[in-house]
Amino acid sequence: MKIKENSAIQYIGCDDTDLDLFENQYVVPEGMAYNSYLIDDDKIAVTDTVDARKSNEWQTNLKAVLNGRHPDYLVVHHLEPDHSANIGWVMETFADCKIVCSAKAAAFLPQFFGTDFAGRVLTVKEGDTLSLGTHTLQFIMAPMVHWPEVMVSYEQSEKVLFAADAFGKFGALCNETDDWACEARRYYFNIVGKYGNPVQTLLKKAAALDIQTICPLHGPILKENLGYYIDLYQTWSSYQPETKGVFIAYASLHGNTAKAAEELAVMLEAKGEKVAISDLSRADIAECVEDAFRYDRMVLCASSYDGGVMPLMRDFINHLSDKTYQKRTVALVENGTWAPSAARTMRALLEPLKEITIVDTVVTIKTSLTTDSRAALKLLADELTR
Ligand code: FEO
Repeated sequence: MKIKENSAIQYIGCDDTDLDLFENQYVVPEGMAYNSYLIDDDKIAVTDTVDARKSNEWQTNLKAVLNGRHPDYLVVHHLEPDHSANIGWVMETFADCKIVCSAKAAAFLPQFFGTDFAGRVLTVKEGDTLSLGTHTLQFIMAPMVHWPEVMVSYEQSEKVLFAADAFGKFGALCNETDDWACEARRYYFNIVGKYGNPVQTLLKKAAALDIQTICPLHGPILKENLGYYIDLYQTWSSYQPETKGVFIAYASLHGNTAKAAEELAVMLEAKGEKVAISDLSRADIAECVEDAFRYDRMVLCASSYDGGVMPLMRDFINHLSDKTYQKRTVALVENGTWAPSAARTMRALLEPLKEITIVDTVVTIKTSLTTDSRAALKLLADELTR
């Protein structure tokens, strides 16, 4: 399948609709796409391979497009196994094919394949080009978008950016909907979110190019309205909130803390705020991480536990810390029957994070909501919306 009319670039990737957990940790109800492309010119370049789960299908796709020919180059933008599982097979099957990759990727090759493919690796650095005939690939280093060996490439004649994991998303292409941002945001903050600065560096380099199509390693090929996607990446990678609103995350042992969270949500909505609310016991934590980054304010409501906080809440804050959560306002609601300790513990976990403002009003519920604690929630709603 050509990526667009009259293009010499073909899509040869695969949908994985049976995958339960991407990276063995993220639910993917819409599956996953492992993208791979072939540039058909005087020289033939294949860009990346796919996950081992889809080796047979990808090899079939590749052979069908090659129609008896051999690829000259296998461009490896990213070595993570969801893209590299078939490198060994390519090198065995096509004796003249050379790997094109960054020096860092070349250094990693033996860790993946037990060989450095001596004499068959062309390492490239920033600004290097590779002519295929009428098509020319220009290489741009993108370390830590998402691994250190990552590079992207820009095909000059068709103005296509092969973007590696950048601009990727969860979801198989056969399940694609118009709402790109939902699963792209969840993918970004959970997989690339820690690496905002490297993404910013890549965006600056990309701004110097005339890009008409983005071919990521996951998710759909982006062909129109590219400013929309690039603007979102600017927002996300600079840790700016995307949406004005409040995300409430609660961890509730017996339901009383949940009730407080729900009542607070009603109070905030009555003030015209956009509110998202999640029960950490049941929600997809990756989606909670996404919402924490999406909104400009967050309320953490938790039961006290073992002199600290309910472990689910501790885990959630640790997740946020791992993803370098920052530049947000956070409010705390705690519950405890005899010695409430959740707020103190949550504050200690949040304090090391950069540019987090903790709202002065901390609501303490002693077992269940009372007139006084409802009044405190009302005060908190006022403070959050002031
Ligand atoms: Fe899609 Fe970082 O691998």
